[in-house]
Amino acid sequence: MPYSSSGSEEEIIMQEYQKYLSEILICEPELKKRIAELGEEISRDYQESKDFLLVCILRGAVNFLTDLSRQITVPHAMDFMAISSYGTGNRSSSGVVRITMDLTTNISSKDVLIVEDIIDSGNTLSYVLDLLSTRKPKSLKVCALLDKSERREVPVPIQYTGFKIPNKFVFGYGLDLDELFRNLPFIGVVDLEKYQALKRPNDS
Ligand code: IMP
Ligand code: MG
Repeated sequence: MPYSSSGSEEEIIMQEYQKYLSEILICEPELKKRIAELGEEISRDYQESKDFLLVCILRGAVNFLTDLSRQITVPHAMDFMAISSYGTGNRSSSGVVRITMDLTTNISSKDVLIVEDIIDSGNTLSYVLDLLSTRKPKSLKVCALLDKSERREVPVPIQYTGFKIPNKFVFGYGLDLDELFRNLPFIGVVDLEKYQALKRPNDS
């Protein structure tokens, strides 16, 4: 059984995600297939690279990074960076972006590929691109699993996109719903009305 049933409120919500899952937008086999294609394309494009670094934006992109990395056949290093753009309970980016954990690698002269879960307003990515470009990488590109382009406020270049998705709040496969459900193997759409009605009364 994937989830325990000992009964804390959080666990009850965990077991009941089906109640507010309105649809599975991208199923596991579709994710696998597309990520294999992205891995192939990236391996082709970076075959001449002498110093190739994947930069994973925590926490949402971690599932994507580990699967994508295993589909990339050229040598590459990985590093991680954590950004906060909006807190638990909020459904849209505040535009206030800050680094909560920086890279440990010096990226100067490296071919850097940023791996992101989803590009929504574009605020987070725009901030990361500006910051990393000041560190003089040899190249700086972006691979995003999901692109919610209707919501864009800041234009951002995305060289590799997994899926374009409609303007719906999604969760699973790294993406969280108030920090939960990153472990689900698919991308699901949240029925926000049902979710609000079911969640703990003290939550924002
Ligand atoms: P942006 O700065 O508005 O582009 O937001 C990007 C970040 O917001 C992503 O890295 C995600 O962490 C989060 N985000 C945006 N849309 C969703 C969603 O539908 N589900 C879960 N997280 C999301
Ligand atoms: Mg994220």
